[in-house]
Amino acid sequence: MWYNTEASKLLGIQYPILQGPFGGNLSSVELTAAVSNAGGLGGYGAYTMSPQEIFEADKQIKAATNKPYNLNLWVSDSDYPDDIPAVKFHKAKEIFKPYFDEVGIPLPDKPAKFQSRFENQLEVILKIRPKVFSFMFGVPSADVLEECRKSGIVTVGAATTLDEAIFLENTGVDMIIASGFEAGGHRPSFLDSAESSLTGTFVLLQLIREKVKVPVIAAGGIANGNGVAAALALGASAAQIGTAFLACDESNALPIHKQMLFSDASKYTTLSRAHTGRLGRGLTSRIAKEILGKEASILPFPLQTTFMSPLRKAALDQEKWDMILFWGGQIAPILKHTKATELMHSLIEETTAYFDGLKT
Ligand SMILES: Cc1cc2nc3c(=O)[nH]c(=O)nc-3n(C[C@H](O)[C@H](O)[C@H](O)COP(=O)(O)O)c2cc1C
Repeated sequence: MWYNTEASKLLGIQYPILQGPFGGNLSSVELTAAVSNAGGLGGYGAYTMSPQEIFEADKQIKAATNKPYNLNLWVSDSDYPDDIPAVKFHKAKEIFKPYFDEVGIPLPDKPAKFQSRFENQLEVILKIRPKVFSFMFGVPSADVLEECRKSGIVTVGAATTLDEAIFLENTGVDMIIASGFEAGGHRPSFLDSAESSLTGTFVLLQLIREKVKVPVIAAGGIANGNGVAAALALGASAAQIGTAFLACDESNALPIHKQMLFSDASKYTTLSRAHTGRLGRGLTSRIAKEILGKEASILPFPLQTTFMSPLRKAALDQEKWDMILFWGGQIAPILKHTKATELMHSLIEETTAYFDGLKT
């Protein structure tokens, strides 16, 4: 059967379909559990959470499913550990002032230095021992990966280039996500700049399959059974789906965000650093469009997120939707489902129908 892949075996799931974890408070216990209970692998993005919050969320997931699930962190969660120079902040204020003026709020103070949370979060993961620990923006040390192996935690790293995939394999991760540029959310590049790591899912998948031995999970631009089948046909051991699950009722995205994903606005997506400081794909915002070519004035991640957060809040209150970044991938215009369980059932049925069709 199509679903008996190496990934299904390793992850302990029935169907090799992963719900992509969402960082930034967009994951939910309900969504993670719904996908795991339907035979896939639910994922929970925890990179912005405190160790205590991760612990609590994990307790809730365990109460909602007895199936395997995935907890996700960002290995690198800051591009700038120091205080940002006044000149740099001044430049950012100059470029973004018109937007703050438009919503009638003052420019914020300079964001404070950001302390990485990864090491503390990692301690909780090692205590909790989820069946699966996935990460992006790098790879934990070989010692940590070894500790995961001894504790029975399957490790999954994200690659945006062939070099990153080889690096992940050499460090000792169990599985690799081939993360194509179609995907919604941040580009998780860690060896080269995100701008020079823009390969589509199905090319990247084939390049990685040719050179690495560990199972590969295709992510980016997959939202239905034909997409899952195409990924498997090209050698993927599983497919990871983000945008289509983000649009479901169970995700923690705002109702207006889901509405936008199902609207005509979803035909246009852009990779931009304007809203967070790292390159990510969302529905094209006016700010992302207008800031093109002025990237030097954007603050490093995550200080740009902090800087933009009062603007985002005011724009939401005033329903100025074109000033807000609504995360989403290029596949958004074909989304159909609003219930995660129905989406899972339809993915399974469509993939089965596709492979059954090949036999006749
Ligand atoms: C809003 C949003 C947030 C995301 N956050 C994370 C994250 O924190 N960690 C991670 O590994 N992947 C993250 N991703 C990537 C997804 O898990 C998944 O790989 C990707 O969305 C697949 O591409 P698709 O959107 O075309 O389906 C995020 C994606 C989106 C849309």
